[in-house]
Amino acid sequence: MRLLVHKNYTVASAWTAGYIAGRINAFAPSKDKPFVLGLPTGSSPLGIYKELIALNKAGKVSFADVVTFNMDEYVGLPGDHSQSYHRFMKDNLFDHIDIKEQNIHILNGMAPNLQAECASYEEAIRAVGGIELFLGGMGSDGHIAFNEPGSSLCSRTRVKTLNRDTKLANARFFENDVNKVPSTALTVGVGVIMEAREVVIIVSGHNKARALQAAVEGGVSHMWTLSCLQMHPHAIIVSDEDATDELKVGTVRYFKDIEGL
Ligand code: GLP
Repeated sequence: MRLLVHKNYTVASAWTAGYIAGRINAFAPSKDKPFVLGLPTGSSPLGIYKELIALNKAGKVSFADVVTFNMDEYVGLPGDHSQSYHRFMKDNLFDHIDIKEQNIHILNGMAPNLQAECASYEEAIRAVGGIELFLGGMGSDGHIAFNEPGSSLCSRTRVKTLNRDTKLANARFFENDVNKVPSTALTVGVGVIMEAREVVIIVSGHNKARALQAAVEGGVSHMWTLSCLQMHPHAIIVSDEDATDELKVGTVRYFKDIEGL
């Protein structure tokens, strides 16, 4: 696993956006061979999305032959709800880049049969040849997508109950009322993320420090599902300085040294 510690969130976001654009360009996607990109929501990727929009508008990267799959979606929020992940993605990325509507995939949390929805989502990922690069964030309890502590590290796409930490963290988007945060979500499983050919995670801020410490310095554990990346052949965590507050000085120095940062 690579850990890139950047000075602050702005630098970390710009680096990550540049990296993704570079991977898309090097892949030289076409209609028959699209670049398949996994995407997250949350505040962590916002800086990356702003940069990707700027790069797209400047003609430095195109999303015309990029196919996307989002990580997760709340159950029971209609797509046009202000806090649905469908709406988040339109507002913060898709409406501002040259991606084709038919290339966008987001789990439908309003589907009449949620199990069938999850199964067909995985089938759609398989049908395009799997995910080339999965971009993600991390919850303050160390979760990846909505794979809360205790999730199987082999889990597949499924309905997941959200824990109190996650609901409290997300209450800020629901008028600070934890009771308005949906109790369940659809999420790709840890096993699905592990099948992506590359995983890139952005982690920012002191409130993520304890989880980053566990995921990087601790062992592989279902209690900190991001730690699954220790078993991934091609994983990068991009962080700012604040998120490293709980790592050993020696660990931060080690990764900065080998990354030349
Ligand atoms: C939610 C999302 C995760 C995201 C996490 C952190 O739980 N399902 O994909 O990583 O929030 O969000 P934020 O980036 O806002 O801290």
